[in-house]
Amino acid sequence: MALDEEPGTPEAWWRTAVMYQVYPRSFADGNGDGEGDLPGLRAKLPYLADLGVDGLWISPWFPSPMADGGYDVSDFRGIHPMFGTLDDADAVLREARDLGLRVIIDLVPNHTSDQHPWFLEALAAAPGSAERARYFFRDGRGDSGEEPPNNWISAFGGPAWSRITEPDGSPGQWYLHLFAPEQPDLDWSNEAVLDDFDDVLRFWFDRGVDGLRIDAAPAMSKKAGLPDADYGGVLQFRTVDWDDNPHWDVDTVHDIFRRWRAIADTYDGDRAFVAEAVVSTPERLAAYLRPDEMHTAFNFPYLKGPWEAGPLRDVIDATLSSFAPIGVPSTWVLTSHDETRPVTRYGRTTTSSYFISDGAGEVSDLALGTRRARAAAMLMLALPGGAYVYQGEELGLPNVDDLPDEVLQDPMFLRSGGEMRGRDGCRVPLPWSGQEPPFGFSPEGVTPWLPQPESWRDLTVEAQEGDATSMLTLYRDVLRLRRETPGLYAAGLAWRESAPDVLDFDRDDALRCVVNLSTEPVDVPADRVLLSSIPLEDGQLPPDATAWLRP
Ligand code: GLC
Repeated sequence: MALDEEPGTPEAWWRTAVMYQVYPRSFADGNGDGEGDLPGLRAKLPYLADLGVDGLWISPWFPSPMADGGYDVSDFRGIHPMFGTLDDADAVLREARDLGLRVIIDLVPNHTSDQHPWFLEALAAAPGSAERARYFFRDGRGDSGEEPPNNWISAFGGPAWSRITEPDGSPGQWYLHLFAPEQPDLDWSNEAVLDDFDDVLRFWFDRGVDGLRIDAAPAMSKKAGLPDADYGGVLQFRTVDWDDNPHWDVDTVHDIFRRWRAIADTYDGDRAFVAEAVVSTPERLAAYLRPDEMHTAFNFPYLKGPWEAGPLRDVIDATLSSFAPIGVPSTWVLTSHDETRPVTRYGRTTTSSYFISDGAGEVSDLALGTRRARAAAMLMLALPGGAYVYQGEELGLPNVDDLPDEVLQDPMFLRSGGEMRGRDGCRVPLPWSGQEPPFGFSPEGVTPWLPQPESWRDLTVEAQEGDATSMLTLYRDVLRLRRETPGLYAAGLAWRESAPDVLDFDRDDALRCVVNLSTEPVDVPADRVLLSSIPLEDGQLPPDATAWLRP
Protein backbone atom coordinates (compact mmCIF):
# COMPACT_ATOMS: atom_id res chain seq x y z
CA MET A 1 0.00 0.00 0.00
CA ALA A 2 1.35 3.45 -0.84
CA LEU A 3 2.05 5.70 2.11
CA ASP A 4 -0.72 8.11 1.17
CA GLU A 5 -3.24 5.30 1.28
CA GLU A 6 -2.68 4.33 4.92
CA PRO A 7 -6.06 4.22 6.64
CA GLY A 8 -6.98 7.60 8.02
CA THR A 9 -3.98 9.42 6.56
CA PRO A 10 -5.07 12.39 4.49
CA GLU A 11 -3.30 13.18 1.27
CA ALA A 12 -0.49 15.44 2.45
CA TRP A 13 1.31 13.41 5.09
CA TRP A 14 2.93 16.42 6.77
CA ARG A 15 -0.45 17.83 7.82
CA THR A 16 -0.92 15.27 10.59
CA ALA A 17 2.32 13.30 10.89
CA VAL A 18 3.92 12.47 14.21
CA MET A 19 7.63 12.85 13.54
CA TYR A 20 10.29 11.32 15.77
CA GLN A 21 13.46 13.37 16.11
CA VAL A 22 16.64 11.32 15.84
CA TYR A 23 19.82 12.92 17.15
CA PRO A 24 22.08 10.44 15.36
CA ARG A 25 25.10 10.69 17.63
CA SER A 26 23.01 9.50 20.59
CA PHE A 27 20.49 7.13 19.04
CA ALA A 28 22.25 3.78 18.47
CA ASP A 29 25.88 2.81 17.88
CA GLY A 30 26.18 0.24 15.10
CA ASN A 31 29.98 0.03 14.82
CA GLY A 32 30.92 0.02 18.50
CA ASP A 33 32.89 3.27 18.72
CA GLY A 34 30.72 4.88 21.39
CA GLU A 35 29.01 7.25 18.94
CA GLY A 36 25.62 6.68 17.35
CA ASP A 37 25.59 6.12 13.59
CA LEU A 38 23.46 5.22 10.59
CA PRO A 39 23.93 1.44 10.79
CA GLY A 40 22.67 1.80 14.39
CA LEU A 41 19.70 3.81 13.20
CA ARG A 42 18.92 1.29 10.44
CA ALA A 43 18.83 -1.52 12.96
CA LYS A 44 16.32 0.37 15.07
CA LEU A 45 13.95 1.48 12.31
CA PRO A 46 11.56 -1.39 13.10
CA TYR A 47 11.43 -0.09 16.70
CA LEU A 48 10.26 3.28 15.38
CA ALA A 49 7.69 1.68 13.08
CA ASP A 50 6.43 -0.31 16.06
CA LEU A 51 6.26 2.78 18.20
CA GLY A 52 3.68 4.06 15.75
CA VAL A 53 5.24 7.33 14.58
CA ASP A 54 4.76 8.42 10.96
CA GLY A 55 8.30 9.48 10.24
CA LEU A 56 11.71 10.69 11.38
CA TRP A 57 13.42 14.02 11.49
CA ILE A 58 17.13 13.34 11.52
CA SER A 59 19.34 16.03 13.09
CA PRO A 60 22.41 16.92 10.96
CA TRP A 61 24.25 13.90 9.62
CA PHE A 62 26.69 15.82 7.42
CA PRO A 63 30.47 15.97 7.76
CA SER A 64 31.18 18.36 10.62
CA PRO A 65 33.91 19.13 13.13
CA MET A 66 31.07 18.94 15.71
CA ALA A 67 31.79 22.36 17.23
CA ASP A 68 28.01 22.69 17.67
CA GLY A 69 26.82 19.09 17.71
CA GLY A 70 26.73 18.82 13.90
CA TYR A 71 25.06 22.20 13.31
CA ASP A 72 28.42 23.27 11.87
CA VAL A 73 28.46 21.61 8.46
CA SER A 74 31.60 21.26 6.37
CA ASP A 75 29.97 19.46 3.41
CA PHE A 76 26.23 19.72 2.73
CA ARG A 77 26.30 16.80 0.29
CA GLY A 78 27.97 14.19 2.44
CA ILE A 79 27.63 12.06 5.56
CA HIS A 80 29.89 12.40 8.58
CA PRO A 81 32.29 9.42 8.60
CA MET A 82 31.37 8.95 12.28
CA PHE A 83 27.81 8.24 11.10
CA GLY A 84 28.66 6.20 7.99
CA THR A 85 28.45 6.80 4.26
CA LEU A 86 26.03 8.05 1.64
CA ASP A 87 25.20 4.40 0.98
CA ASP A 88 24.13 4.09 4.63
CA ALA A 89 21.99 7.20 4.26
CA ASP A 90 20.36 5.74 1.13
CA ALA A 91 19.69 2.54 3.06
CA VAL A 92 18.08 4.49 5.90
CA LEU A 93 15.83 6.31 3.41
CA ARG A 94 14.91 3.10 1.59
CA GLU A 95 14.28 0.98 4.65
CA ALA A 96 12.32 3.71 6.40
CA ARG A 97 10.13 4.03 3.34
CA ASP A 98 9.59 0.25 3.26
CA LEU A 99 8.39 0.49 6.86
CA GLY A 100 6.00 3.31 5.98
CA LEU A 101 8.12 6.00 7.67
CA ARG A 102 8.74 9.43 6.13
CA VAL A 103 12.16 11.04 6.57
CA ILE A 104 13.05 14.70 6.83
CA ILE A 105 16.59 15.89 7.31
CA ASP A 106 17.99 18.98 8.94
CA LEU A 107 19.43 21.64 6.64
CA VAL A 108 21.61 24.27 8.33
CA PRO A 109 21.83 27.04 5.74
CA ASN A 110 22.53 30.13 7.87
CA HIS A 111 26.14 29.17 8.40
CA THR A 112 28.81 26.69 7.45
CA SER A 113 31.54 25.19 9.55
CA ASP A 114 34.76 27.18 9.68
CA GLN A 115 36.27 24.05 8.10
CA HIS A 116 33.99 24.23 5.04
CA PRO A 117 36.14 24.63 1.88
CA TRP A 118 34.43 27.97 1.17
CA PHE A 119 35.51 29.43 4.47
CA LEU A 120 39.06 28.12 4.10
CA GLU A 121 39.16 29.68 0.62
CA ALA A 122 37.84 32.94 2.04
CA LEU A 123 40.56 33.03 4.70
CA ALA A 124 43.22 32.49 2.05
CA ALA A 125 41.78 35.12 -0.31
CA ALA A 126 42.05 38.90 -0.13
CA PRO A 127 39.56 41.35 1.37
CA GLY A 128 36.93 42.22 -1.25
CA SER A 129 37.39 38.91 -3.11
CA ALA A 130 34.55 36.71 -4.41
CA GLU A 131 35.64 34.07 -1.87
CA ARG A 132 35.06 36.43 1.05
CA ALA A 133 31.80 37.68 -0.42
CA ARG A 134 30.06 34.36 0.34
CA TYR A 135 30.32 35.31 4.02
CA PHE A 136 30.24 38.60 5.92
CA PHE A 137 33.82 39.78 6.07
CA ARG A 138 34.12 43.44 7.11
CA ASP A 139 36.82 45.82 8.28
CA GLY A 140 36.70 46.59 11.99
CA ARG A 141 35.88 49.91 13.56
CA GLY A 142 38.44 51.97 15.45
CA ASP A 143 41.73 53.46 14.26
CA SER A 144 43.29 50.17 13.34
CA GLY A 145 40.15 48.11 12.88
CA GLU A 146 40.44 46.66 16.37
CA GLU A 147 36.70 46.97 17.18
CA PRO A 148 34.04 44.64 15.71
CA PRO A 149 32.20 46.13 12.69
CA ASN A 150 28.96 46.47 14.68
CA ASN A 151 27.46 45.60 18.08
CA TRP A 152 25.75 42.30 17.19
CA ILE A 153 25.91 39.51 19.76
CA SER A 154 26.06 35.76 19.30
CA ALA A 155 23.38 33.29 20.37
CA PHE A 156 26.00 31.53 22.42
CA GLY A 157 27.25 34.66 24.19
CA GLY A 158 29.93 37.21 23.32
CA PRO A 159 30.28 39.28 20.14
CA ALA A 160 28.96 37.91 16.84
CA TRP A 161 32.24 38.85 15.15
CA SER A 162 35.71 37.31 15.21
CA ARG A 163 38.83 38.83 13.77
CA ILE A 164 41.08 36.89 11.45
CA THR A 165 44.75 37.07 10.71
CA GLU A 166 45.34 37.84 7.03
CA PRO A 167 47.48 35.42 4.99
CA ASP A 168 50.43 37.85 5.32
CA GLY A 169 50.23 37.62 9.13
CA SER A 170 48.71 41.05 9.76
CA PRO A 171 45.60 41.56 11.95
CA GLY A 172 42.77 41.40 9.49
CA GLN A 173 39.08 41.67 8.77
CA TRP A 174 36.27 40.43 10.97
CA TYR A 175 33.68 37.80 10.03
CA LEU A 176 30.14 37.42 11.30
CA HIS A 177 28.87 34.40 13.26
CA LEU A 178 25.47 34.68 14.91
CA PHE A 179 26.23 31.38 16.65
CA ALA A 180 29.71 30.02 17.53
CA PRO A 181 32.89 31.39 15.87
CA GLU A 182 33.17 27.96 14.21
CA GLN A 183 29.87 28.76 12.41
CA PRO A 184 30.49 31.70 10.03
CA ASP A 185 27.26 33.14 8.58
CA LEU A 186 26.72 32.88 4.84
CA ASP A 187 25.65 35.97 2.91
CA TRP A 188 22.34 34.91 1.39
CA SER A 189 22.24 37.95 -0.88
CA ASN A 190 25.13 36.38 -2.79
CA GLU A 191 24.01 34.54 -5.96
CA ALA A 192 26.80 31.97 -5.66
CA VAL A 193 25.42 30.91 -2.28
CA LEU A 194 21.86 30.72 -3.58
CA ASP A 195 22.88 28.69 -6.64
CA ASP A 196 24.88 26.20 -4.64
CA PHE A 197 22.06 25.54 -2.20
CA ASP A 198 19.59 25.02 -5.04
CA ASP A 199 21.81 22.13 -5.93
CA VAL A 200 22.01 20.91 -2.31
CA LEU A 201 18.20 20.77 -2.14
CA ARG A 202 18.05 18.79 -5.37
CA PHE A 203 20.82 16.48 -4.15
CA TRP A 204 18.73 15.37 -1.16
CA PHE A 205 15.32 15.46 -2.86
CA ASP A 206 16.78 13.25 -5.60
CA ARG A 207 17.93 10.78 -2.95
CA GLY A 208 14.37 10.61 -1.69
CA VAL A 209 14.09 12.69 1.46
CA ASP A 210 10.49 13.69 2.15
CA GLY A 211 11.41 17.09 3.47
CA LEU A 212 13.85 19.44 5.07
CA ARG A 213 13.80 21.15 8.43
CA ILE A 214 15.30 24.58 7.96
CA ASP A 215 17.54 25.44 10.89
CA ALA A 216 17.53 29.03 12.20
CA ALA A 217 15.47 30.17 9.19
CA PRO A 218 14.92 33.79 10.34
CA ALA A 219 18.68 34.32 10.69
CA MET A 220 19.35 33.97 6.98
CA SER A 221 18.84 37.60 5.88
CA LYS A 222 20.54 40.61 7.37
CA LYS A 223 19.56 44.24 6.98
CA ALA A 224 21.66 45.93 4.27
CA GLY A 225 24.57 47.89 5.70
CA LEU A 226 24.58 45.72 8.86
CA PRO A 227 23.47 48.53 11.20
CA ASP A 228 23.88 48.26 14.98
CA ALA A 229 21.04 46.46 16.77
CA ASP A 230 19.07 48.10 19.53
CA TYR A 231 19.08 45.32 22.08
CA GLY A 232 17.70 47.45 24.87
CA GLY A 233 20.28 46.09 27.28
CA VAL A 234 19.62 42.36 26.74
CA LEU A 235 22.75 40.31 26.70
CA GLN A 236 21.22 37.08 25.47
CA PHE A 237 19.95 36.09 22.08
CA ARG A 238 16.21 36.48 22.73
CA THR A 239 14.94 36.79 19.20
CA VAL A 240 11.36 36.49 20.22
CA ASP A 241 11.50 39.80 22.10
CA TRP A 242 12.96 41.85 19.27
CA ASP A 243 11.08 43.54 16.49
CA ASP A 244 12.78 45.19 13.58
CA ASN A 245 15.98 43.35 14.30
CA PRO A 246 18.77 43.89 11.74
CA HIS A 247 19.87 40.26 11.90
CA TRP A 248 16.68 38.30 12.53
CA ASP A 249 13.43 37.89 10.62
CA VAL A 250 14.40 40.51 8.02
CA ASP A 251 11.75 40.54 5.27
CA THR A 252 14.11 39.64 2.41
CA VAL A 253 14.48 36.18 3.97
CA HIS A 254 11.19 35.20 2.34
CA ASP A 255 12.67 35.50 -1.17
CA ILE A 256 14.93 32.56 -0.35
CA PHE A 257 12.05 30.32 0.72
CA ARG A 258 10.00 31.19 -2.36
CA ARG A 259 12.90 30.11 -4.50
CA TRP A 260 13.21 26.86 -2.55
CA ARG A 261 9.50 26.12 -2.64
CA ALA A 262 9.58 26.36 -6.43
CA ILE A 263 12.26 23.65 -6.41
CA ALA A 264 10.39 21.40 -3.96
CA ASP A 265 7.23 21.70 -6.06
CA THR A 266 8.97 20.17 -9.06
CA TYR A 267 9.21 16.88 -7.10
CA ASP A 268 6.42 14.39 -6.64
CA GLY A 269 5.39 12.88 -3.32
CA ASP A 270 4.58 15.91 -1.15
CA ARG A 271 8.04 17.13 -0.20
CA ALA A 272 7.78 19.49 2.74
CA PHE A 273 9.76 22.25 4.45
CA VAL A 274 9.54 22.69 8.20
CA ALA A 275 10.67 26.06 9.53
CA GLU A 276 12.64 26.47 12.70
CA ALA A 277 11.50 30.05 13.12
CA VAL A 278 11.30 31.75 16.49
CA VAL A 279 9.85 35.16 15.68
CA SER A 280 8.06 37.88 17.61
CA THR A 281 4.39 37.31 16.70
CA PRO A 282 2.10 34.65 15.16
CA GLU A 283 1.61 37.00 12.19
CA ARG A 284 5.35 37.12 11.57
CA LEU A 285 5.44 33.32 11.72
CA ALA A 286 2.49 33.02 9.33
CA ALA A 287 4.55 34.88 6.72
CA TYR A 288 6.93 31.88 6.57
CA LEU A 289 3.96 29.64 5.83
CA ARG A 290 2.47 31.45 2.86
CA PRO A 291 1.43 29.08 0.09
CA ASP A 292 4.65 29.66 -1.85
CA GLU A 293 7.01 29.34 1.14
CA MET A 294 7.33 26.64 3.81
CA HIS A 295 4.74 24.02 4.67
CA THR A 296 4.82 23.90 8.46
CA ALA A 297 6.73 25.34 11.38
CA PHE A 298 7.81 24.33 14.83
CA ASN A 299 5.52 25.60 17.54
CA PHE A 300 7.94 27.21 19.95
CA PRO A 301 5.32 29.06 22.02
CA TYR A 302 3.74 25.66 22.77
CA LEU A 303 7.09 24.03 23.54
CA LYS A 304 8.09 26.77 25.95
CA GLY A 305 4.82 27.08 27.81
CA PRO A 306 4.42 26.13 31.47
CA TRP A 307 2.35 23.19 32.76
CA GLU A 308 -0.59 25.43 33.63
CA ALA A 309 -4.12 25.31 32.27
CA GLY A 310 -4.53 29.02 31.40
CA PRO A 311 -1.33 29.49 29.41
CA LEU A 312 -1.78 26.10 27.71
CA ARG A 313 -5.28 26.93 26.59
CA ASP A 314 -4.13 30.37 25.41
CA VAL A 315 -1.30 28.99 23.34
CA ILE A 316 -3.52 26.31 21.80
CA ASP A 317 -6.10 28.96 20.87
CA ALA A 318 -3.47 31.37 19.56
CA THR A 319 -1.89 28.63 17.47
CA LEU A 320 -5.15 27.46 15.97
CA SER A 321 -6.42 30.96 15.24
CA SER A 322 -3.23 32.08 13.55
CA PHE A 323 -2.77 28.92 11.47
CA ALA A 324 -6.33 28.03 10.48
CA PRO A 325 -7.02 31.14 8.34
CA ILE A 326 -3.97 30.45 6.20
CA GLY A 327 -4.87 26.78 5.85
CA VAL A 328 -1.68 25.59 7.50
CA PRO A 329 -1.73 22.70 9.98
CA SER A 330 -0.47 23.35 13.49
CA THR A 331 2.37 21.34 14.93
CA TRP A 332 2.91 20.53 18.59
CA VAL A 333 6.17 19.77 20.30
CA LEU A 334 7.36 19.45 23.88
CA THR A 335 11.11 19.30 23.48
CA SER A 336 14.15 18.81 21.24
CA HIS A 337 17.93 18.44 21.35
CA ASP A 338 18.07 22.08 22.55
CA GLU A 339 15.77 21.91 25.58
CA THR A 340 15.53 20.45 29.06
CA ARG A 341 13.71 17.12 28.86
CA PRO A 342 10.03 17.35 29.90
CA VAL A 343 10.28 14.85 32.78
CA THR A 344 12.84 17.16 34.43
CA ARG A 345 11.23 20.44 33.43
CA TYR A 346 7.74 19.48 34.63
CA GLY A 347 9.14 18.34 37.98
CA ARG A 348 10.36 21.84 38.80
CA THR A 349 8.48 24.84 40.11
CA THR A 350 9.24 26.72 36.91
CA THR A 351 7.85 24.46 34.22
CA SER A 352 8.40 26.70 31.20
CA SER A 353 11.43 26.19 28.96
CA TYR A 354 14.03 28.53 27.50
CA PHE A 355 15.61 28.56 24.04
CA ILE A 356 18.49 26.63 25.37
CA SER A 357 18.40 24.45 28.42
CA ASP A 358 20.15 25.38 31.59
CA GLY A 359 20.86 22.06 33.24
CA ALA A 360 22.10 23.78 36.37
CA GLY A 361 18.50 24.55 37.28
CA GLU A 362 16.55 23.62 40.37
CA VAL A 363 16.43 19.97 41.49
CA SER A 364 13.47 18.22 39.92
CA ASP A 365 10.81 15.96 41.41
CA LEU A 366 11.10 13.31 38.71
CA ALA A 367 8.06 11.29 39.81
CA LEU A 368 5.88 14.38 39.46
CA GLY A 369 7.65 15.34 36.23
CA THR A 370 7.04 11.88 34.78
CA ARG A 371 3.38 11.95 35.69
CA ARG A 372 2.99 15.34 34.02
CA ALA A 373 5.04 14.31 30.99
CA ARG A 374 2.61 11.40 30.47
CA ALA A 375 -0.33 13.77 30.64
CA ALA A 376 1.42 16.29 28.39
CA ALA A 377 2.13 13.66 25.73
CA MET A 378 -1.53 12.64 25.61
CA LEU A 379 -2.62 16.27 25.36
CA MET A 380 -0.15 17.02 22.57
CA LEU A 381 -1.22 14.01 20.55
CA ALA A 382 -4.90 14.91 20.94
CA LEU A 383 -4.46 18.31 19.26
CA PRO A 384 -5.21 18.90 15.57
CA GLY A 385 -2.22 18.82 13.21
CA GLY A 386 1.21 17.23 13.44
CA ALA A 387 3.55 16.58 16.36
CA TYR A 388 7.22 16.01 17.12
CA VAL A 389 8.61 13.53 19.63
CA TYR A 390 12.28 13.82 20.57
CA GLN A 391 14.19 10.56 21.00
CA GLY A 392 13.96 9.28 24.56
CA GLU A 393 10.79 11.22 25.31
CA GLU A 394 8.92 7.95 24.72
CA LEU A 395 11.10 6.39 27.44
CA GLY A 396 10.51 9.22 29.91
CA LEU A 397 14.21 9.97 30.15
CA PRO A 398 15.13 12.82 32.48
CA ASN A 399 17.78 15.40 31.65
CA VAL A 400 21.20 14.39 32.90
CA ASP A 401 22.10 17.48 34.87
CA ASP A 402 25.14 16.13 36.68
CA LEU A 403 27.39 15.32 33.72
CA PRO A 404 30.99 16.03 34.76
CA ASP A 405 32.33 19.30 33.34
CA GLU A 406 35.07 17.55 31.41
CA VAL A 407 32.64 15.64 29.16
CA LEU A 408 30.50 18.68 28.24
CA GLN A 409 30.79 19.67 24.60
CA ASP A 410 28.14 22.32 24.01
CA PRO A 411 29.63 25.63 22.83
CA MET A 412 27.20 27.31 25.23
CA PHE A 413 29.07 25.77 28.15
CA LEU A 414 32.46 26.44 26.70
CA ARG A 415 31.74 30.02 25.59
CA SER A 416 30.01 31.08 28.80
CA GLY A 417 32.99 29.99 30.87
CA GLY A 418 30.82 27.28 32.42
CA GLU A 419 28.09 29.66 33.54
CA MET A 420 25.53 27.98 31.28
CA ARG A 421 25.56 24.18 31.41
CA GLY A 422 24.27 23.97 27.85
CA ARG A 423 22.40 21.18 26.11
CA ASP A 424 24.47 18.03 26.58
CA GLY A 425 22.15 16.83 29.36
CA CYS A 426 19.35 16.15 26.86
CA ARG A 427 21.71 14.45 24.38
CA VAL A 428 22.90 11.50 26.46
CA PRO A 429 22.82 8.24 24.42
CA LEU A 430 19.62 6.21 24.62
CA PRO A 431 19.36 3.16 26.89
CA TRP A 432 18.15 0.14 24.92
CA SER A 433 18.73 -2.91 27.08
CA GLY A 434 20.68 -4.52 29.90
CA GLN A 435 21.44 -3.66 33.49
CA GLU A 436 24.29 -1.21 33.15
CA PRO A 437 25.85 1.33 30.80
CA PRO A 438 26.17 1.36 27.84
CA PHE A 439 22.67 -0.21 28.02
CA GLY A 440 22.85 -1.69 24.53
CA PHE A 441 23.59 1.70 22.95
CA SER A 442 27.09 0.40 22.21
CA PRO A 443 28.47 -3.11 22.64
CA GLU A 444 29.38 -4.05 26.20
CA GLY A 445 32.64 -2.55 27.41
CA VAL A 446 32.43 0.50 25.14
CA THR A 447 31.95 3.90 26.80
CA PRO A 448 29.45 6.13 24.98
CA TRP A 449 30.48 9.71 24.12
CA LEU A 450 28.40 11.02 27.02
CA PRO A 451 28.03 8.80 30.11
CA GLN A 452 24.59 7.35 30.92
CA PRO A 453 23.37 7.30 34.53
CA GLU A 454 23.18 3.89 36.23
CA SER A 455 19.60 4.73 37.17
CA TRP A 456 18.57 4.38 33.52
CA ARG A 457 18.49 0.58 34.00
CA ASP A 458 14.76 0.93 34.72
CA LEU A 459 14.20 3.12 31.65
CA THR A 460 15.67 0.94 28.90
CA VAL A 461 13.44 -0.10 26.02
CA GLU A 462 13.84 -3.68 27.19
CA ALA A 463 12.75 -2.85 30.74
CA GLN A 464 9.71 -0.91 29.53
CA GLU A 465 8.56 -3.33 26.87
CA GLY A 466 5.61 -5.33 28.09
CA ASP A 467 5.21 -3.18 31.23
CA ALA A 468 1.67 -1.86 31.06
CA THR A 469 2.56 1.13 33.24
CA SER A 470 5.65 2.28 31.34
CA MET A 471 6.03 5.47 29.33
CA LEU A 472 6.88 3.40 26.26
CA THR A 473 3.62 1.48 26.52
CA LEU A 474 1.71 4.73 26.91
CA TYR A 475 3.30 6.18 23.76
CA ARG A 476 2.59 3.02 21.79
CA ASP A 477 -1.01 2.93 22.98
CA VAL A 478 -1.72 6.59 22.34
CA LEU A 479 -0.09 6.58 18.91
CA ARG A 480 -2.09 3.50 17.93
CA LEU A 481 -5.30 5.05 19.17
CA ARG A 482 -4.54 8.27 17.29
CA ARG A 483 -4.14 6.33 14.05
CA GLU A 484 -7.17 4.18 14.61
CA THR A 485 -9.67 6.83 15.70
CA PRO A 486 -11.92 7.48 12.71
CA GLY A 487 -12.22 11.10 11.68
CA LEU A 488 -9.60 12.38 14.12
CA TYR A 489 -7.21 13.86 11.56
CA ALA A 490 -9.85 16.04 9.97
CA ALA A 491 -11.65 17.08 13.16
CA GLY A 492 -11.62 20.59 14.62
CA LEU A 493 -11.32 21.48 18.30
CA ALA A 494 -14.10 22.85 20.52
CA TRP A 495 -13.71 23.59 24.22
CA ARG A 496 -16.25 22.34 26.75
CA GLU A 497 -17.16 24.18 29.93
CA SER A 498 -14.79 22.89 32.58
CA ALA A 499 -13.71 23.23 36.19
CA PRO A 500 -10.83 25.68 36.83
CA ASP A 501 -7.45 24.30 35.79
CA VAL A 502 -9.05 21.59 33.68
CA LEU A 503 -8.78 21.48 29.89
CA ASP A 504 -11.69 19.70 28.27
CA PHE A 505 -12.23 19.65 24.52
CA ASP A 506 -13.89 17.72 21.74
CA ARG A 507 -12.32 16.89 18.44
CA ASP A 508 -15.70 16.95 16.75
CA ASP A 509 -17.30 13.51 17.07
CA ALA A 510 -13.97 11.71 17.01
CA LEU A 511 -12.56 12.22 20.49
CA ARG A 512 -12.88 14.08 23.77
CA CYS A 513 -9.78 14.94 25.77
CA VAL A 514 -9.73 15.96 29.44
CA VAL A 515 -6.54 17.20 31.11
CA ASN A 516 -6.54 17.74 34.85
CA LEU A 517 -4.00 20.41 35.80
CA SER A 518 -5.67 21.13 39.13
CA THR A 519 -4.81 19.66 42.51
CA GLU A 520 -8.17 17.84 42.90
CA PRO A 521 -9.53 14.78 41.07
CA VAL A 522 -12.21 15.58 38.46
CA ASP A 523 -15.25 13.62 37.39
CA VAL A 524 -15.18 12.01 33.96
CA PRO A 525 -17.64 9.49 32.51
CA ALA A 526 -15.51 6.44 33.30
CA ASP A 527 -17.35 4.16 30.88
CA ARG A 528 -16.32 6.37 27.97
CA VAL A 529 -12.59 6.45 28.75
CA LEU A 530 -10.48 4.98 25.97
CA LEU A 531 -7.09 5.63 27.55
CA SER A 532 -5.77 7.58 30.51
CA SER A 533 -2.22 8.63 31.36
CA ILE A 534 -2.59 7.09 34.83
CA PRO A 535 -5.45 4.89 36.10
CA LEU A 536 -8.65 6.61 37.21
CA GLU A 537 -9.26 6.61 40.97
CA ASP A 538 -12.85 5.90 42.06
CA GLY A 539 -14.01 6.82 38.58
CA GLN A 540 -12.22 10.19 38.73
CA LEU A 541 -9.29 11.59 36.78
CA PRO A 542 -6.47 12.33 39.27
CA PRO A 543 -4.40 15.56 39.16
CA ASP A 544 -1.73 15.86 36.46
CA ALA A 545 -3.43 13.31 34.25
CA THR A 546 -5.06 13.20 30.80
CA ALA A 547 -7.83 10.98 29.51
CA TRP A 548 -9.02 10.32 25.96
CA LEU A 549 -12.74 9.57 25.83
CA ARG A 550 -15.46 8.74 23.37
CA PRO A 551 -17.36 12.04 23.10
C1 GLC B 1 19.25 25.61 15.93
C2 GLC B 1 19.59 24.21 16.40
C3 GLC B 1 20.64 24.31 17.46
C4 GLC B 1 21.88 24.97 16.89
C5 GLC B 1 21.54 26.32 16.26
C6 GLC B 1 22.67 26.83 15.39
O1 GLC B 1 18.66 26.36 16.91
O2 GLC B 1 18.45 23.56 16.83
O3 GLC B 1 20.99 23.04 17.98
O4 GLC B 1 22.84 25.16 17.89
O5 GLC B 1 20.40 26.24 15.42
O6 GLC B 1 22.77 26.08 14.21
